[in-house]
Parts: sequence; structure tokens; C-alpha cells
Amino acid sequence: MELKFDMGSAHSSCSLVTTSSTKHFCFSQSSICVSKLHPTSQNQIRSIKFTSHPFHCCCSSSQHLPLRCNQVGEFESQVKSLKTMADIHGIDQELLKKMVYDALVWSSLHGLVVGDKSVKRSGKVPGVGLVHAPIALLPGLFPETHWKQACELVSIFNELVDRVSLDGKFLQESLSRTKKVDAFTSRLLDIHSKMLQIDKKEEIRLGLHRSDYMLDEKTKLLLQVELNTISCSFAEFSHLVSQLHSDLLGQYGEVLGLDSRMIPENHAGNQYAEVLVKAWTEYNNPSAVIMIVVQAEERNMYDQHCLSVNLRKRHYIKTLRKTLAEIDREGELQSDGTLLVDGQAVAVVYYRAGYTPTDYPSELEWKARLLMEQSSAVKCPSISYHLVGTKKIQQELAQPNVLERFLDNKEDIAKIRKCFAGLWSLDDKDIVKKAIEAPDLFVMKPQREGGGNNIYGDDVRKTLVRLQKEGNVEDAAYILMQRIFPSVYPTIFVRDGICHKDHAISELGIFGAYLRNKDKVIVNDQCGYLMTTKVSSSNEGGVAAGFAVLDSIYLTN
Ligand SMILES: Nc1ncnc2c1ncn2[C@@H]1O[C@H](COP(=O)(O)OP(=O)(O)O)[C@@H](O)[C@H]1O
Ligand SMILES: [Mg+2]
Repeated sequence: MELKFDMGSAHSSCSLVTTSSTKHFCFSQSSICVSKLHPTSQNQIRSIKFTSHPFHCCCSSSQHLPLRCNQVGEFESQVKSLKTMADIHGIDQELLKKMVYDALVWSSLHGLVVGDKSVKRSGKVPGVGLVHAPIALLPGLFPETHWKQACELVSIFNELVDRVSLDGKFLQESLSRTKKVDAFTSRLLDIHSKMLQIDKKEEIRLGLHRSDYMLDEKTKLLLQVELNTISCSFAEFSHLVSQLHSDLLGQYGEVLGLDSRMIPENHAGNQYAEVLVKAWTEYNNPSAVIMIVVQAEERNMYDQHCLSVNLRKRHYIKTLRKTLAEIDREGELQSDGTLLVDGQAVAVVYYRAGYTPTDYPSELEWKARLLMEQSSAVKCPSISYHLVGTKKIQQELAQPNVLERFLDNKEDIAKIRKCFAGLWSLDDKDIVKKAIEAPDLFVMKPQREGGGNNIYGDDVRKTLVRLQKEGNVEDAAYILMQRIFPSVYPTIFVRDGICHKDHAISELGIFGAYLRNKDKVIVNDQCGYLMTTKVSSSNEGGVAAGFAVLDSIYLTN
């Protein structure tokens, strides 16, 4: 899913500012700009000194925070890391400022940039209003065992998505109650029904997925948050952030006591491009293009443009960039099923839009989606793959004996099941009762993608009580999920040129690619990773509001 960030403006020189609860380094063009952002006098700014552990500067919580992802049996290495981290934190402010400065220069030079929300045209006109992408200054610690576990799951999930996608009846039945109350899911299901009616076969099937996990601190279990099957963003940028962190550790690793080789290689962008090329090759029309379906306004456009440039320069394949409305205007189907857009045959339709109701402001956009689905072009994703990625299907797959319908290998089933958090339908009255009593232990999720839609805390209780009172079918729009509590750890966020120390939690996304043509599986691979990190006090609403940053991982043993 695209993560939406709230952007500020880009800046270029530096100072240190503080608020009541947090401290920031602010890179700005003038002190006026600094005081605009943080109404703190320059004298106050200069008086701030780090103690021996500067990451604790904003401490609302305990000084003895657990390290990220600590695990039984790895105490030794954690202590070692903690010592080195403590050394990092104890270094003087000048070094930190230098690192932030270098990170921002690196981001600008390598195109790790996004549109600045405060500049109106930045989401539409390339080059207007750019700011570095929000990042964590240093990679987060992550246990190697859990990293390997997440990587091992990729090929099994890829296969699972493919098999579930072929069971049209399962998809329709599982979502039948949702269909009645959720207009968006209902429209997707209508397209899916039409494809079933005409017995449309997708022989070449392409999935570019991202499975997101959190490490539950108490149980030490790697638990899946969700499996994204449409518009998995930041493949290109995740590579850049890993590279940025490697370069920073190459430069400052010795003084920090960190080794850049502990950041796993991450070639997500190149791998995604290569798989798209393979799908294009299978389609077998050398004059056809790859079409990227985009939103009309997109601040994360550079992640997408990286991919287009990659396809053109490394693989000599032309891409088209079109909105759903443009596809409606310019698209047509030839009698043999070829999709023509603006007169060009399309081999692969790659969606970076179309996952949220706002992408379909009128019937025209739905018409465009149907047109593409009817065509012979390879869709990434097809309507079936899209539906497999819904929260409801995630919850259905977690029911007893459902995985067994789709997978044969018992070990694979056990591996997948191990990463499932508790997932329930609102039909389950016992769970609804529990959630009303202890709402903080649950997350309530509608069938939506893209962040900012879930319900947390006391709102869970209120919503459930309301649904019970009204006694209507609206409850089918939601699922309940066990709330995962990852370890909270100190980190440094760099956002809008401001270095901000806070406590954080992280989510690890593993990119996966699956391509098959009839019976032949051509690709079933892991393709790099994306860590996103947000302040621990924020629910996902914080991500939409801009609290989440791009991150990479530093493996611990
Ligand atoms: N079970 C959970 N426990 C804790 N946080 C969660 C849980 N599920 C989701 N979240 C938080 O909410 C965010 C959005 O939820 P997600 O299921 O990924 O939906 P979306 O499709 O909108 O990205 C996640 O990135 C995560 O930060
Ligand atoms: Mg998500």
C-alpha cells in the first residue's frame, strides 16, 4: 500500500531545537523558519546538551526500554549492541548533526525524495516542491532468526495467494456478507463475478506482494499485520534507505561501533523491475508497453518513476503512466483481447492506484478497471489477487482447516499459521464481548487499504456497542484482530529536515514476487524488504499523519 506522508518543506542548514517533550535538529534555511516550526528561542536551542544517553532526551517512558526485538537466548549480543548504541548516543551533538546533514545530502543526491505537501503542485508536477523522504537516521535492530523466518514465508504466501485466487467461489462466499454493507468491496466483487461468468482465464499471473509483520514483544512471535497484494509501494526507496544506512555506517560505523555488513542487501526495486520484465516477456509482444496505473495526485511519485527509469534504461522497455480516468478516455479493447491505451498495446498493467474508494470518484474509473480486467494484458494484480489481499480473506484463512484447502505441505501450513495473529469475524459473539471489555487488546479493521482506516482503543468498544445496539448487518464490514505490541525502542527520526528523538515501534514488510504462465512457475521469490518505523504512541493514524518513516534493519544474532 502507498503510505501517505504529510510533507513539510526542504531545508538546508542546521540548528537544534526543543519542545517540551522532544528535541529536534532542524536543518533550515533561516532561523525564522526554525522559529516558525518550533517557537523556541535560539538561546534555549543552544543550551541543550545530551546526557550520556541522548536518545532518552524526550523520555516520557522508562530509561530502561527494551531494545528492539530482543529475544530469549540473544542476551549477549543485545548487551553488546546496547553498549555500542550507548556509545553512539554519547557522542557529541556535532557528530549527530553531521550525520543528519550527510543523510539529507545523500537523499537529495540519490533521489530519495517525495513531494512536499505544503507545495500545492508538488503531487502533480515533477520537480516542484521536493523534500527528502522521511527516514530513520540509523537502521533498527532486528533478530536474524525472525528475519530468516519472514523471508522463508514469502514463497509459501505467494503460492497461497495464487491458489486462493483460483477459487472464485471461496472469494465470493467469504465476502458475501461484506458485499452487502461495503460498497467498494461490492464493486470489486461485481467485476470478479463478471470474470467468473465469462470464464475469463488468467494464464499469466503476476503478484508483487508485501507481507507486513510486527514482532510481538511478549510472545517473541513474528506476527503478520497484513498481506498486501495491490500497489505495494517503496520497493525502490527501500533499496535506497538500506543503501543510505550502509553508506552512513561505512562512514561513521567505526565510531558508532556498528558494521554496515549487518544490514541485509536490499534490491527490492531491481527485483520488482526484473519480474515485471519477465511478465512482459511472457506476454510476448515486443512492441507492447508496461502501464503503471497511478493516482492523479501522487507525492510518492519518485518511487514509481525510479521503476520506470529502471525498466527503460536497464531493460529497454517503455512504460506508460496513466490514471484510471485517462485509461477510460484512451483505452480500448481489440477483438483478440489486446488492451490499447493511447494507441499502444499494453503487456502488463501495474497498479499503483485503484485500491481505495477515492480512486474511483465516478463510474468512468470503474469502467476503466473493468476494461483492463477483460483484456489479455497481465494484471498486477488481477481482480482475484486483489480480493485475496482483503482483510476479510486474511481472517477467513486464519479459520481452522481453511489453509488446508489450499496448501498440501503440512510444514508450510504450520509455518504460515504460526505467523497469524488472532483474527475474528464479528459473528463471534464471545470475542465481541471480550473486545468490549478489553478494547486495547484488539484492532478493528474495515475492508480498506492505504492506512488511516482502522479503529483502536476505546473507539473499538464504542463502535462494537453501537453495532450491537443497532443490530444491523454493518458489522460484516469489519474484522477484529489481536493487537500486536512490538518492543518500543529509542530512535532518531529525520523528517522535513528535522531530527527528532522519540520512542518507536517498527513493522517489517517483505516484498515477494510470483509469476507463472499456466503450469510453469517462473518466479517465486523474496525481493528485499521495507522497514517502517513510527513513534510508539501513534496508532496507524500516525502513519497517515506523517509519523512513519522509512527504515532498514541491522541484524542481531
Ligand atoms: N494487529 C495490529 N496490532 C498493532 N498494530 C496494527 C495491527 N494491525 C494494524 N496495525 C497498525 O495499523 C497500520 C495499518 O493497518 P493495516 O492492516 O496494515 O492496514 P492498511 O491496509 O491500511 O495498511 C499498520 O501499519 C500498523 O501500524
Ligand atoms: Mg498496511
